[in-house]
Amino acid sequence: MRLLEKNQSDLSTILAIESSCDETAAAICRDGFIFSNVIANQTIHQQWGGVVPELASRAHLQNIVPTVQGALSEAGKKLGQTIQLSDLDAIAFTQSPGLIGSLLVGAQFAKSMALALNIPLIAVHHMQAHVLANLIPGENRQIPSFPFLCLTVSGGHTQIILCTSPNELKVLGETIDDAAGEAFDKSGKLLGLPYPAGPIIDQYAKNGNPQRFKFAEPNIPELGFSFSGLKTSILYFIQDHIKEDPQFIQKNLADLCASIQQTIIDILLKKLKRAATITGVKDICLAGGVSANSGLRAAFQSLGEQQHWRTYIPPFEYCTDNAAMIAITGYYKFLEKDFAPMTVSPSAKAEFT
Ligand code: KG4
Ligand code: ZN
Repeated sequence: MRLLEKNQSDLSTILAIESSCDETAAAICRDGFIFSNVIANQTIHQQWGGVVPELASRAHLQNIVPTVQGALSEAGKKLGQTIQLSDLDAIAFTQSPGLIGSLLVGAQFAKSMALALNIPLIAVHHMQAHVLANLIPGENRQIPSFPFLCLTVSGGHTQIILCTSPNELKVLGETIDDAAGEAFDKSGKLLGLPYPAGPIIDQYAKNGNPQRFKFAEPNIPELGFSFSGLKTSILYFIQDHIKEDPQFIQKNLADLCASIQQTIIDILLKKLKRAATITGVKDICLAGGVSANSGLRAAFQSLGEQQHWRTYIPPFEYCTDNAAMIAITGYYKFLEKDFAPMTVSPSAKAEFT
């Protein structure tokens, strides 16, 4: 492999590709620093109220070449020199978990490039990447020390993870049903909001009273989460009120959004606090698409101050699905020479390996 011939194990230019769901993304990481992070959003799913897997795969096929070209040219501009394909030292890609058709597009593209360029291929776990987004260096931004805890909240996962090194992660607790992002999106659907409802609820909640309505919180042991009961509780609550006033949602939208958001935040932070107490860890991070939520960010930071934690939240662009997080994870795997064989296949479901 070219890498071994060069014998410069720490210097690297890595192209990373993310295609696990409905975002086609590419990023360039040089020596552990991110130089570009390009995302092509797929708006086609909005009209269906959720991600349609077949449409996502087709959109990835259309987007992947221009997205990778965009990442190369943006990084070139930042570095002040064109990045040629021959400058790449490795290709990292999201191997799991995700929609299989979507993963296949990114995986095949990454494999083909690695094979053509004769450079190593790095298979990345999407959830590990969300956690390691906290390690992306940036101006005036601290990164956590090991060990750290991470509350990863996305559209597909809700996990509390203990991270003892970039490649050693342990799931301490996770959801037994819906993820926190699904709780936002499904609640939003009940309110008649378009998909994905998370960011819209966030906006309405800014003008609402979070204490106005109360919804049932689950009673799940240890560090587990559950959100399916909340959805049912909101459904019955809304049905009851609409019987009395058909305009109930429209008249109370801001308060409904603020109250739903507050319930989700309370459920998440209660368990995070418990995990910090059990482990004694003081470096605590947020990750995943839901960590873009302004209410969660504020509540997390104020809990951190109260508990004397050192808190970390990745910049907004590294919270929702992106390739910079795949690139930083790829970089740490590159340092360990943790390369994947060309026979590697994507997997819809997989634990950390
Ligand atoms: O991590 P992510 O981009 O994709 C997955 O891997 O799932 O997370 C997407 C989820 C969606 O459920 C979306 O509604 C939610 O993150 N989300 C938000 C916000 N921004 C994105 N939820 C609440 N508030 C937000 N500001
Ligand atoms: Zn994600």
